[in-house]
Amino acid sequence: MCGIVGYLGKQQAYQILVQGLHRLEYRGYDSSGVAMISDSGALNIYKAKGKVKALEDHAKDKDLSGSIGIAHTRWATHGEPNDINAHPHCSQSQNIALVHNGTIENYNVLKEALTQQGYTFVSETDTEVVVQLIEYIKTKNNCSLFDAVKEAARQVVGAYAIAVIDKNNPDEIIAARQSSPLVIGIKDDEYFLASDATPIIEYTNKVVYLNDGEIAVINRKDGLRVFDIKSRSEAKICITELKMSIEELEKGGYPHFMLKEIFEQPKTLADCISGRISSDGKRVVLSGVIEHKEKFLNANRIIIVACGTSWHAALIGKHLIEDFCRTPVVVEYASEFRYCNPVVGENDILIALSQSGETADTLAALELAKSRGAFVFGICNVIGSSIPRATHSGCYIHVGPEIGVASTKAFTGQVTVLAMLALLVGQMKGLVSDETLEKVASDIRRVPLLIKDIFKMNDRIQDLAKIFTYAHNFLYLGRGYNYPSALEGALKLKEISYIHAEGYPAAEMKHGTIALIDNDMPSVVIAIKDNVYEKTVSNIQQVKARGGKVVAIVTEGDTVVSGMADYVLEVPEISECLTPLLTSIPLQLLAYYIAVNKGRNVDQPRNLAKSVTVE
Ligand code: G6P
Repeated sequence: MCGIVGYLGKQQAYQILVQGLHRLEYRGYDSSGVAMISDSGALNIYKAKGKVKALEDHAKDKDLSGSIGIAHTRWATHGEPNDINAHPHCSQSQNIALVHNGTIENYNVLKEALTQQGYTFVSETDTEVVVQLIEYIKTKNNCSLFDAVKEAARQVVGAYAIAVIDKNNPDEIIAARQSSPLVIGIKDDEYFLASDATPIIEYTNKVVYLNDGEIAVINRKDGLRVFDIKSRSEAKICITELKMSIEELEKGGYPHFMLKEIFEQPKTLADCISGRISSDGKRVVLSGVIEHKEKFLNANRIIIVACGTSWHAALIGKHLIEDFCRTPVVVEYASEFRYCNPVVGENDILIALSQSGETADTLAALELAKSRGAFVFGICNVIGSSIPRATHSGCYIHVGPEIGVASTKAFTGQVTVLAMLALLVGQMKGLVSDETLEKVASDIRRVPLLIKDIFKMNDRIQDLAKIFTYAHNFLYLGRGYNYPSALEGALKLKEISYIHAEGYPAAEMKHGTIALIDNDMPSVVIAIKDNVYEKTVSNIQQVKARGGKVVAIVTEGDTVVSGMADYVLEVPEISECLTPLLTSIPLQLLAYYIAVNKGRNVDQPRNLAKSVTVE
């Protein structure tokens, strides 16, 4: 949610900053801006409403010189998206510029106090208060920018990752973080600052992740130094080497990241599984679980907290863990869990499931459970992100950077890891027989190939999308393991096509939702051969009897549903617990092609952001 970039070095900053903003655009894209201290010592700030491209158009004839700068791409929280509310924000004297990711909760109190001191505000943002506060402290105490930022950081309440520059010191960037991510890349005497590593990786693979409560001084002469905001003591700098490659951040010939990420799934799932199922297929190896075996064996309960698509994967995880481990699992929206005074304690395991590892609500839910004694375990994609760093243990899904805002490959990666975790814990508890483990593990290994098979239906799905492009409402129905798949299918369609869609348990539909069904409301029904197959078939008949059109996802060779549904998409047979890994693929493609037909911005749908680091 909002992306920050910064550069200090020997190159001209502008191109590096703008390229960085493009990489971070998935975090928010309603406006963007840059601030640079020019070669002649001016503080130049350029901002524009809209995508980064609008900023480039606006800035093209301006003075773009300078080897120090900060930049921002915004997802509005306080104040509508316009040029004035766009970052960077500037202090009253026009000397200090600041970019911010997060929300300042006490901005009203601070704003009032600063107004009384003669400060005036031009924007509606919470961020402007921070830059004015920094200037106020700096002037009043006659102190350095570093000391002023440090003091301001102590006074603001909320979440922030900030980067600040001062026109009077073109050799220094100050950055600080509390609950919003910040990464600093180091290459000889060049420094790259960003909300995540994606803008940095093309310059260096050596990065430092700033911790909560830390402030960094990046200085041309003295290099990088990090301090604790509260204690003021200097922190040890820990350099991490990243393994990400630049190709992973490109579209690779696909028109959209989302399509690339859908088609990547055979590879990403192979990476996710790699090294985690022993070569004889008899054991699952997840070291984050094995090292804490006792916790998993003795847990009274597992709570999975997540948001959005990850929450849907969590619902599948519940089925998997309860089936294989017989440990009760509850799945909670992280945003609800954190404020509902949950009953959670020492004998519970809390799993925080998050692609980005940065979702503010999921992180807060995790911290709450940890403070009450629970063992906290992370399942994330982005290496080094906040959630994995806050947990006792965890495992990555290893599906590579996901850039399309609508999650696809992360969903299947999450389900795959949850399946392996359930098998492993079930085996450790003596509840999963060797035969079951071998069968399911071998099916997990087959998934990449089976997904490739499903891609053969790509053209058919594209044709189907044409038929339904102008539908105004959709119903997605599924049961058991595939009720969450129905929820996820509906979410994909809503997110990128803006068509209203509802996911529902197929049988529950008759208690109300069935009233909506008519000729204009298509239903997508997941009717694979599982333990409720016959029941789902009846549900299809109930829809058909009311004139509803049905698109059915069925198991290969099914003749019963084919004779009943209007359109049928077949997926290969596999262990029931893994079927969501296959049924989700045609649903992703259907949503994608409908959205493309409607001319939507598939990778950056309106109002959304990939990483939601605010409440
Ligand atoms: C945002 C994204 C969704 C994502 C959700 C949770 O809403 O647009 O695609 O599922 O956040 O994100 P996480 O990174 O925690 O999985």
